[in-house]
Amino acid sequence: MRTSIANLAGTTPIGRAEIKSLATYVPPRVLTNADLEKLVDTSDEWILQRTGIRERHIVEPGVGTSDIAKEAAAEAIRRAGLTPDDIDLIIVGTVTPDMLFPSTACLLQHKLGASRAWGFDVSAACSAFAYSLTVGSQLIAAGSVKYALIVGADVMSSIIDYTDRTTCVLFGDGAGAVVLGPSSSPELGIIDFAHEIDGSGGAALCMPAGGSLKPASHETVDQRLHFVKQDGSTVFKFAVRRTGDLCERLLRRNNVTADDIDLFVSHQANRRIIEAVSERVGIDKSKVIINIERFGNTTAGTIPLAMNDAVLQGRLKKGDLVLVASVGAGFTVGALLIRWAF
Ligand code: ACO
Repeated sequence: MRTSIANLAGTTPIGRAEIKSLATYVPPRVLTNADLEKLVDTSDEWILQRTGIRERHIVEPGVGTSDIAKEAAAEAIRRAGLTPDDIDLIIVGTVTPDMLFPSTACLLQHKLGASRAWGFDVSAACSAFAYSLTVGSQLIAAGSVKYALIVGADVMSSIIDYTDRTTCVLFGDGAGAVVLGPSSSPELGIIDFAHEIDGSGGAALCMPAGGSLKPASHETVDQRLHFVKQDGSTVFKFAVRRTGDLCERLLRRNNVTADDIDLFVSHQANRRIIEAVSERVGIDKSKVIINIERFGNTTAGTIPLAMNDAVLQGRLKKGDLVLVASVGAGFTVGALLIRWAF
């Protein structure tokens, strides 16, 4: 008789994982469009019209991604009615790790005192929270771990060039965390996911230096290569087309229509992208959460920040069918279908 890998590991598949709790954190310091008008040749009107952003939060010097991740994670664990020792797995989605290694998951594990947890970082830019949710939920569904802490956190201000008006108006810092665990009922939890990558778009959005290809040197610093570089209109077109297609495919294969969706939670990169994707998929405006106005694009943080606002506004309740969509550098694209569990 064949033994499954899960059984060899002493575990039994349990079916489905659900989100048990959610918490977020943004640093107190606010950078408004008016502040940016003093730094670069831009205007509140341009930023608001083209992106939907009014303000974003940024950390004080000396604060790293693990610090803001810890604030959100500790609260998520508390809200789940657990302690850090209950956590089996920590996944941190981020493009701004405290350092290249050790991973931010290791630093966070230590800061939380999550003595039993193992974990790692996921590098998928703005799709990192969605990808991490998928990986964590699949490990729970396989019976390999019970409780997974999934974090999306970025200190984008550490890699933004505040002399480049085409990027500095877009990004902010923020973190969100959820605790995943076995579903309390067969209908609730993470139902399905679809993910894609397309490396042909790598050059359209990247931080060129600081890795093995172009290690830090006087030259790379002088050329400002340790900052985000973006071809905005290429990213924009890719985001609308591919996110829309992936969402439609996910709905179709689950026999779900846009009308069945109670809430659409998209990555928040640009108000116009979110509106175009939801229109393409056929989701009514009243079911779309947009909070980019207050936070900007916090990269891996946007989806939990949007979920949290939806919960606070009473727009996300137990039993709701949620469509999550992400798109980011890479390119990376993701979609998840979730039956909300609390
Ligand atoms: N203030 C004023 N003018 C500006 C600014 C600014 N901050 N930035 C650009 N402009 C100018 C440009 O220079 C250009 O001027 P020109 O016509 O004289 O050359 C004009 O405004 C129009 O620029 P476009 O780039 O065509 O403007 P667009 O409408 O495309 O908006 C934007 C730019 C907001 C960047 C948009 O393309 C966008 O949102 N792209 C997607 C970004 C995104 O989704 N990134 C997500 C991934 S993030 C991640 O994964 C880490």
